Amino acid sequence: MEKRAELYSGKAKSVYETDEQDFLILEFRNDTSAFDGEKVDQLERKGMVNNKFNAFIMTKLKEAGVPTHFERLLSDQESLVKRMEMLPVECVVRNISAGSLCRRLGVAEGQELNPPTFELFLKNDALHDPMVNESLVETFGWATKEQLARAKELTYKVNDVLKKLFDDAGILLVDYKLEFGLFKGEVVLGDEFSPDGCRLWDKATRNKLDKDRFRQGLGGVVEAYEEVGRRLGIQFD
Ligand code: TMP
Ligand code: ASP
Repeated sequence: MEKRAELYSGKAKSVYETDEQDFLILEFRNDTSAFDGEKVDQLERKGMVNNKFNAFIMTKLKEAGVPTHFERLLSDQESLVKRMEMLPVECVVRNISAGSLCRRLGVAEGQELNPPTFELFLKNDALHDPMVNESLVETFGWATKEQLARAKELTYKVNDVLKKLFDDAGILLVDYKLEFGLFKGEVVLGDEFSPDGCRLWDKATRNKLDKDRFRQGLGGVVEAYEEVGRRLGIQFD
């Protein structure tokens, strides 16, 4: 597999073409951003930690029957993935109230949400990823009704698999964001699953073990990600 030109550079990952039309290389960088790119920093080891974290989770999801773009790890900071046409929406499931849900609705943080909520956001930093709904997604053609229904079904399936996986490691899966794409017409999970895109709390202490440590300036960001990984049995080096 030969690495070719850079296709796209996001806030924390870069995407490269390869000598095979159907595959891309994802590079997980140490760059970390929050608040739609307003707060940025470089965190040592984060690219490697998130790359290996994502590989572990995507493999678990694939084993559970969730189609994902992940093919294999290529190096500490690179993974091979399927080339997809991404749907420009983010699917968010919440099991416990936190973050923008609390800000928007005046709900206290830490309440169990039963049933878990499902929200959609448009991927657009300039507009601060506004919340959208299924009607808007269909009307503006961001996804068809069928594609969105499949993405929603897979997003809930991910919840069933990962809530248990984290719970067994003494961690609460508070919420998470997923992005889907189309690969040869099929809705497939893309982007990444790492502590950059979800909230994870220690079950006993409710200590934050995710990107909220960065957003809130709590320190020990990568250390917390590695602690989660260690509890899941991920080998970082
Ligand atoms: P929120 O509380 O800010 O709406 O975020 C909910 C979850 O989704 C949280 O785990 C962070 C994640 N998320 C991202 O990773 N990127 C995003 O752009 C958004 C809107 C949410
Ligand atoms: N990842 C997004 C950003 O860089 C949102 C966030 O995590 O706060 O702004």
